[in-house]
Amino acid sequence: MTTSMTLDYQIELQRPEDLAAVESINDRAFGPGRHQKTAYRLREDVQSLDDLNLVARQDGVILGTIRFWPIVIVPGEGTPTPALLLGPIAVDPELKGRGIGIALMRAGIARARELGHRLVLLVGDYDYYARVGFDRVPQGCLMMPGPVDYDRLLKLELVPGAFAGVTGMISRPM
Ligand SMILES: CC(C)(COP(=O)(O)OP(=O)(O)OC[C@H]1O[C@@H](n2cnc3c(N)ncnc32)[C@H](O)[C@@H]1OP(=O)(O)O)[C@@H](O)C(=O)NCCC(=O)NCCS
Repeated sequence: MTTSMTLDYQIELQRPEDLAAVESINDRAFGPGRHQKTAYRLREDVQSLDDLNLVARQDGVILGTIRFWPIVIVPGEGTPTPALLLGPIAVDPELKGRGIGIALMRAGIARARELGHRLVLLVGDYDYYARVGFDRVPQGCLMMPGPVDYDRLLKLELVPGAFAGVTGMISRPM
Protein backbone atom coordinates (compact mmCIF):
# COMPACT_ATOMS: atom_id res chain seq x y z
CA MET A 1 0.00 0.00 0.00
CA THR A 2 1.22 3.49 -0.72
CA THR A 3 0.02 6.81 0.58
CA SER A 4 -0.93 7.93 -2.94
CA MET A 5 -3.48 5.15 -3.50
CA THR A 6 -7.12 6.08 -3.95
CA LEU A 7 -9.12 4.75 -1.06
CA ASP A 8 -12.17 2.70 -2.01
CA TYR A 9 -12.51 0.20 0.80
CA GLN A 10 -15.38 -1.68 2.38
CA ILE A 11 -15.85 -2.27 6.08
CA GLU A 12 -16.67 -5.92 6.55
CA LEU A 13 -16.67 -8.59 9.21
CA GLN A 14 -13.24 -10.09 9.80
CA ARG A 15 -12.97 -13.58 8.31
CA PRO A 16 -10.96 -16.42 9.88
CA GLU A 17 -8.40 -16.22 7.07
CA ASP A 18 -7.84 -12.50 7.82
CA LEU A 19 -6.26 -13.14 11.20
CA ALA A 20 -2.63 -13.19 10.02
CA ALA A 21 -3.02 -9.87 8.17
CA VAL A 22 -4.84 -8.37 11.16
CA GLU A 23 -2.05 -9.41 13.53
CA SER A 24 0.54 -8.06 11.10
CA ILE A 25 -1.11 -4.61 10.99
CA ASN A 26 -1.29 -4.57 14.78
CA ASP A 27 2.37 -5.55 15.07
CA ARG A 28 3.39 -2.79 12.68
CA ALA A 29 1.10 -0.17 14.23
CA PHE A 30 1.94 -0.82 17.88
CA GLY A 31 5.42 -2.31 17.66
CA PRO A 32 6.75 -5.12 19.82
CA GLY A 33 5.58 -5.37 23.40
CA ARG A 34 1.92 -4.68 22.74
CA HIS A 35 0.99 -7.96 24.44
CA GLN A 36 2.48 -6.66 27.71
CA LYS A 37 -0.28 -4.09 28.13
CA THR A 38 -2.84 -4.68 30.85
CA ALA A 39 -5.66 -4.71 28.27
CA TYR A 40 -4.17 -7.94 26.94
CA ARG A 41 -4.64 -9.60 30.36
CA LEU A 42 -8.35 -9.22 29.64
CA ARG A 43 -7.95 -10.94 26.26
CA GLU A 44 -6.02 -14.01 27.40
CA ASP A 45 -7.96 -17.23 26.72
CA VAL A 46 -10.93 -15.15 25.54
CA GLN A 47 -12.17 -15.01 21.94
CA SER A 48 -12.83 -11.64 20.40
CA LEU A 49 -16.37 -11.28 19.09
CA ASP A 50 -16.72 -12.71 15.58
CA ASP A 51 -19.88 -10.73 14.95
CA LEU A 52 -18.15 -7.42 15.79
CA ASN A 53 -14.57 -7.74 14.57
CA LEU A 54 -14.29 -5.61 11.45
CA VAL A 55 -11.72 -4.94 8.77
CA ALA A 56 -11.38 -2.23 6.13
CA ARG A 57 -10.72 -4.14 2.92
CA GLN A 58 -9.77 -2.88 -0.53
CA ASP A 59 -9.20 -5.32 -3.41
CA GLY A 60 -8.70 -8.12 -0.91
CA VAL A 61 -6.07 -6.20 1.08
CA ILE A 62 -6.72 -5.29 4.71
CA LEU A 63 -6.09 -1.61 5.44
CA GLY A 64 -7.32 -1.49 9.02
CA THR A 65 -8.73 -3.59 11.82
CA ILE A 66 -10.90 -3.20 14.89
CA ARG A 67 -11.82 -5.89 17.39
CA PHE A 68 -14.08 -6.11 20.40
CA TRP A 69 -13.82 -8.44 23.40
CA PRO A 70 -16.38 -9.36 26.01
CA ILE A 71 -15.62 -8.19 29.55
CA VAL A 72 -17.52 -7.90 32.80
CA ILE A 73 -17.30 -5.30 35.54
CA VAL A 74 -17.46 -7.09 38.85
CA PRO A 75 -18.55 -5.04 41.86
CA GLY A 76 -17.65 -5.84 45.46
CA GLU A 77 -21.16 -7.13 45.83
CA GLY A 78 -24.08 -7.26 43.45
CA THR A 79 -24.46 -8.19 39.84
CA PRO A 80 -21.63 -7.96 37.29
CA THR A 81 -22.17 -5.65 34.33
CA PRO A 82 -21.30 -6.99 30.88
CA ALA A 83 -19.49 -4.64 28.53
CA LEU A 84 -17.25 -4.62 25.48
CA LEU A 85 -13.53 -3.85 25.41
CA LEU A 86 -12.69 -2.05 22.17
CA GLY A 87 -9.31 -2.81 20.69
CA PRO A 88 -6.92 -3.22 19.31
CA ILE A 89 -7.72 -0.78 16.52
CA ALA A 90 -5.00 -0.19 13.97
CA VAL A 91 -4.57 1.17 10.49
CA ASP A 92 -1.81 0.37 8.00
CA PRO A 93 0.86 2.91 9.07
CA GLU A 94 1.15 4.19 5.51
CA LEU A 95 -2.55 5.03 5.43
CA LYS A 96 -2.90 6.82 8.74
CA GLY A 97 -4.89 10.03 8.96
CA ARG A 98 -7.24 9.27 6.07
CA GLY A 99 -10.33 8.47 8.08
CA ILE A 100 -10.07 4.68 8.18
CA GLY A 101 -9.81 4.52 11.97
CA ILE A 102 -12.85 6.68 12.56
CA ALA A 103 -14.82 4.75 9.91
CA LEU A 104 -13.96 1.44 11.62
CA MET A 105 -15.04 2.79 14.99
CA ARG A 106 -18.30 4.25 13.72
CA ALA A 107 -19.17 0.95 12.03
CA GLY A 108 -18.18 -1.11 15.07
CA ILE A 109 -20.08 1.07 17.51
CA ALA A 110 -23.21 1.08 15.33
CA ARG A 111 -23.10 -2.68 14.99
CA ALA A 112 -22.52 -3.20 18.72
CA ARG A 113 -25.57 -1.09 19.44
CA GLU A 114 -27.66 -3.05 16.92
CA LEU A 115 -26.59 -6.29 18.55
CA GLY A 116 -27.85 -5.05 21.91
CA HIS A 117 -24.59 -4.24 23.67
CA ARG A 118 -24.87 -1.41 26.17
CA LEU A 119 -21.41 -0.23 27.19
CA VAL A 120 -17.94 -0.02 25.60
CA LEU A 121 -14.65 0.58 27.44
CA LEU A 122 -11.15 1.12 26.09
CA VAL A 123 -7.73 2.36 27.09
CA GLY A 124 -6.56 5.06 24.70
CA ASP A 125 -6.06 8.72 23.87
CA TYR A 126 -9.05 10.77 24.96
CA ASP A 127 -8.59 13.34 22.18
CA TYR A 128 -9.00 10.68 19.50
CA TYR A 129 -11.85 8.66 20.95
CA ALA A 130 -13.84 11.70 22.03
CA ARG A 131 -14.47 12.16 18.30
CA VAL A 132 -16.81 9.17 18.41
CA GLY A 133 -18.33 9.98 21.79
CA PHE A 134 -16.07 8.38 24.40
CA ASP A 135 -15.47 10.15 27.68
CA ARG A 136 -13.31 9.47 30.71
CA VAL A 137 -14.32 6.98 33.36
CA PRO A 138 -14.46 8.99 36.60
CA GLN A 139 -11.47 8.20 38.79
CA GLY A 140 -12.07 5.43 41.28
CA CYS A 141 -15.07 3.84 39.55
CA LEU A 142 -13.29 0.99 37.80
CA MET A 143 -10.16 -1.05 38.33
CA MET A 144 -8.05 -2.82 35.74
CA PRO A 145 -6.19 -6.08 36.52
CA GLY A 146 -2.75 -4.47 36.20
CA PRO A 147 -0.99 -1.16 35.72
CA VAL A 148 -2.86 1.37 33.61
CA ASP A 149 -3.04 5.15 33.25
CA TYR A 150 -6.59 5.70 34.50
CA ASP A 151 -6.79 9.01 32.62
CA ARG A 152 -6.83 6.87 29.49
CA LEU A 153 -9.67 4.60 30.60
CA LEU A 154 -12.64 5.68 28.49
CA LYS A 155 -16.27 4.67 28.19
CA LEU A 156 -19.10 4.97 25.72
CA GLU A 157 -22.70 4.29 26.68
CA LEU A 158 -24.50 2.64 23.76
CA VAL A 159 -27.70 2.96 25.74
CA PRO A 160 -28.19 6.15 27.78
CA GLY A 161 -27.52 5.49 31.45
CA ALA A 162 -25.71 2.19 30.88
CA PHE A 163 -22.79 3.33 33.05
CA ALA A 164 -24.96 4.70 35.87
CA GLY A 165 -23.91 3.14 39.17
CA VAL A 166 -21.33 0.83 37.57
CA THR A 167 -18.22 0.22 39.70
CA GLY A 168 -15.82 -2.64 40.14
CA MET A 169 -13.00 -4.67 38.67
CA ILE A 170 -12.85 -5.04 34.91
CA SER A 171 -12.53 -8.77 34.37
CA ARG A 172 -12.65 -11.49 31.79
CA PRO A 173 -16.09 -13.03 31.30
CA MET A 174 -16.82 -15.73 33.85
C1 LIG B 1 -4.92 5.44 16.00
C2 LIG B 1 -5.28 4.97 14.59
C3 LIG B 1 -6.07 3.67 14.68
C4 LIG B 1 -6.10 6.06 13.93
O1 LIG B 1 -6.50 5.63 12.65
P1 LIG B 1 -6.41 6.64 11.43
O2 LIG B 1 -7.10 6.02 10.28
O3 LIG B 1 -5.00 7.06 11.26
O4 LIG B 1 -7.23 7.88 12.01
P2 LIG B 1 -8.33 8.75 11.26
O5 LIG B 1 -7.81 9.09 9.89
O6 LIG B 1 -9.64 8.09 11.34
O7 LIG B 1 -8.38 10.04 12.17
C5 LIG B 1 -7.33 10.92 12.03
C6 LIG B 1 -7.55 12.12 12.92
O8 LIG B 1 -7.46 11.68 14.28
C7 LIG B 1 -6.34 12.31 14.87
N1 LIG B 1 -5.66 11.34 15.71
C8 LIG B 1 -5.12 10.17 15.34
N2 LIG B 1 -4.56 9.56 16.41
C9 LIG B 1 -4.76 10.40 17.45
C10 LIG B 1 -4.42 10.34 18.82
N3 LIG B 1 -3.76 9.30 19.32
N4 LIG B 1 -4.79 11.37 19.62
C11 LIG B 1 -5.46 12.44 19.12
N5 LIG B 1 -5.82 12.54 17.83
C12 LIG B 1 -5.46 11.54 17.01
C13 LIG B 1 -5.46 12.73 13.73
O9 LIG B 1 -4.66 13.82 14.11
C14 LIG B 1 -6.46 13.11 12.69
O10 LIG B 1 -6.97 14.39 12.95
P3 LIG B 1 -7.57 15.34 11.78
O11 LIG B 1 -8.77 14.63 11.22
O12 LIG B 1 -7.94 16.58 12.52
O13 LIG B 1 -6.46 15.48 10.80
C15 LIG B 1 -4.02 4.74 13.72
O14 LIG B 1 -3.33 5.95 13.60
C16 LIG B 1 -3.09 3.68 14.24
O15 LIG B 1 -3.14 2.53 13.80
N6 LIG B 1 -2.20 4.03 15.18
C17 LIG B 1 -1.28 3.10 15.76
C18 LIG B 1 -2.00 2.13 16.66
C19 LIG B 1 -2.72 2.85 17.79
O16 LIG B 1 -2.15 3.73 18.43
N7 LIG B 1 -3.97 2.43 18.03
C20 LIG B 1 -4.81 3.03 19.03
C21 LIG B 1 -4.32 2.65 20.37
S1 LIG B 1 -5.31 3.23 21.68
